Amino acid sequence: MEKLITIENAHFSYPAADENAKPVEVLKGISLEFEHGELVAVLGHNGSGKSTLAKLLNAVLLPTEGKVTVTGIDTKEEDKLLEIRQHVGMVFQNPDNQIVATTVEEDVAFGLENIGVPSAEMRVRVDQALQAVGMYEYREHAPHQLSGGQKQRVAIAGIIAMRPDCIVLDEPTAMLDPQGRKEVMRTIRLLNRDYGITVILITHEMDEAAQCDRVIVVDHGEVRMDAKPEKVFSHVQKMRAIGLDVPQPTELCDLLRQAGYDLDPEIMTPEACAEAVAKLFQ
Ligand SMILES: Nc1ncnc2c1ncn2[C@@H]1O[C@H](COP(=O)(O)OP(=O)(O)OP(=O)(O)O)[C@@H](O)[C@H]1O
Ligand SMILES: [Mg+2]
Repeated sequence: MEKLITIENAHFSYPAADENAKPVEVLKGISLEFEHGELVAVLGHNGSGKSTLAKLLNAVLLPTEGKVTVTGIDTKEEDKLLEIRQHVGMVFQNPDNQIVATTVEEDVAFGLENIGVPSAEMRVRVDQALQAVGMYEYREHAPHQLSGGQKQRVAIAGIIAMRPDCIVLDEPTAMLDPQGRKEVMRTIRLLNRDYGITVILITHEMDEAAQCDRVIVVDHGEVRMDAKPEKVFSHVQKMRAIGLDVPQPTELCDLLRQAGYDLDPEIMTPEACAEAVAKLFQ
């Protein structure tokens, strides 16, 4: 099957701030492929280029060098912009900036109206999208009365109503409380598992990355690691050097290993950690 997204040696520089300044290269030769159905986390410290990379995926930005394709379409093809954006939808950090209408269902319908979906089909798609994110009962509510997590799920519904193959979420839980974070992560995993939507999740939360199938670590505009989360997090020192943490269970096991205990470096979940530590006492 055709790759969903390919990035070939992509470079990106923002234009120089003034005549005397030089453009700063923010992405320095990134090559990645994304398959249909993947659940991928992108990690990296502040300013490493994650959001810039995300914007290359649906032609908000074009690479200054190299190539990005979405279902085989080069993102430089101007007349395919709408098609590209329908394949790859984006969700951002602040749910308040993404809400445009006065009721939840109007908000979810907004993008569909813009692309001229007939009203009967619109009804079906809005209802399905709201059901998929668990917000159907709130369809007649005013968005500003919802919690942060609920608003973010409405924003996600607005994107999936467009029936994209892929959603890119740029720190969607950063402004939410722990309850909101959990709701949004549960929704994201469900959309991936039950609806087959490819998810690319940019996050600073290691426990969220641990719930994905693949983790990409970006550092200074380059891909430093790209593997299963257990593998990535087993490189505790390397992650620290890049300025990133590892999940707490991995950290605990790492400390115990340094103290001479024999533990699997790929332990990542609290359950696996508890089991391994209990074995040490047997
Ligand atoms: N519009 C812009 N014009 C000029 N420079 C920019 C612009 N947007 C971002 N940058 C710079 O590009 C670099 C990468 O920024 P980017 O937003 O992609 O990083 P990030 O990994 O998403 O960071 P964060 O974790 O803080 O969201 C940073 O040094 C940033 O200052
Ligand atoms: Mg960012």
